[in-house]
Amino acid sequence: MTVYYKGFPQSDRNEAIKMVNVDELEDRVRKVMPEAAYYYIASGSENEWTWRNNTTAFNHFQIVPRSLTNMDSPSTATQFMGMDLKKPIMICPIACHGIAHKDAEVATAQGAKAAGALFSSSTYANKSVEDIAAATGDSPKFFQLYLSKDWDFNKMVFDAVKSAGYKGIMLTVDALVSGYREANLRTNFTFPVPLDFFTRYVGAEGEGMSVAQMYANSAQKIGPADVAKIKEMSGLPVFVKGIMNAEDAYMAIGAGADGIVVSNHGGREIDTAPATIDMLPEITAAVNGRVPIILDSGVRRGSHVFKALALGADLVGIGRPFLYGLALGGAKGVESVINQINNEFKILMQLTGCKTVEDVKHADIRQINYTADNLPSNTDPSVRRAYPVTKENQMEGIQDAATGASKH
Ligand SMILES: Cc1cc2nc3c(=O)[nH]c(=O)nc-3n(C[C@H](O)[C@H](O)[C@H](O)COP(=O)(O)O)c2cc1C
Repeated sequence: MTVYYKGFPQSDRNEAIKMVNVDELEDRVRKVMPEAAYYYIASGSENEWTWRNNTTAFNHFQIVPRSLTNMDSPSTATQFMGMDLKKPIMICPIACHGIAHKDAEVATAQGAKAAGALFSSSTYANKSVEDIAAATGDSPKFFQLYLSKDWDFNKMVFDAVKSAGYKGIMLTVDALVSGYREANLRTNFTFPVPLDFFTRYVGAEGEGMSVAQMYANSAQKIGPADVAKIKEMSGLPVFVKGIMNAEDAYMAIGAGADGIVVSNHGGREIDTAPATIDMLPEITAAVNGRVPIILDSGVRRGSHVFKALALGADLVGIGRPFLYGLALGGAKGVESVINQINNEFKILMQLTGCKTVEDVKHADIRQINYTADNLPSNTDPSVRRAYPVTKENQMEGIQDAATGASKH
């Protein structure tokens, strides 16, 4: 069913979703969601090379089977920052879940709770941190921070987040400005539903704002001293999200970060940035066990979770697929997506003799240089085409993506 917020259609569903893999959900959502909203979620920046490679780069690593292990009934449960999780999975912070469902982040958090995964809420959430907490009690929750230039705003946010019982802050440092996302330009995307912190503290609703306007509200200049200051002012553990190299990992930990998130923002910022899984081994070596690591970007399979954990991550973040689950099935749809990826992960635990998540961290992963290993299957996201360029959506003064010619 569909309800409308000022003419914008939102799903009203709450039902488990049948699927064979999470990739197929993207196409199902494309058929039911307004085009601008769908492409806001699905697309990456520029030519979407990084967006595609985030997923295919997992093929650079191979999982070696182990058979005579005398083991059954593996458990995916894990402890993370003192929280008990049933799965080593985090719901990534994503702005404006109201684009997918009328209950927005409340429904997502309920789905994460039912699945036993860590939920994280974006600064640009539609629902308040209080409403999300009221609907989910003390289930594990992190808050993602886009640092504002205004420290009074930051302090109000920290206080609200802490008293709502969130267990940590994730400071995003890889999106100081928006990446060049062409689909948003061609569709003229603006946020269709009000964003809670804007309504509360900025006096603007956020509704009707473009992605670029949104980023203009947050700080472009962020350094190690900000990490320390956020930690002190909030009294909460601080993770730094968007680490893609050893040097930034050293700096974050040196500034007191309690953890890092290896992420390239799902290929939405620098196009041609490397895939996160390819950078993980050198970051793991730099971190050297001092703080936990979360990896996101391109995770679509249980095998991706397995490889990330085996190469040094403690949790793995899922972005777009849960939002597709939210659009198609509300809280239960989010739960279905987490369960799908986790079920695939559990099969691999059995087939590698890993009884626990800790065992996965020591599993045998190889990096054999095959020559023709990356041919896409029909469920591979690289099969999807970029946003189509038409006569109508070619913008004045913007280069024609098809011919390279400048149009004025
Ligand atoms: C529609 C959308 C909105 C996002 N909004 C945020 C945000 O508000 N804050 C943030 O730190 N990251 C944001 N991200 C990035 C995600 O947290 C995460 O890094 C990324 O989605 C992971 O890649 P995946 O979608 O391929 O799984 C967003 C991603 C998408 C797709």
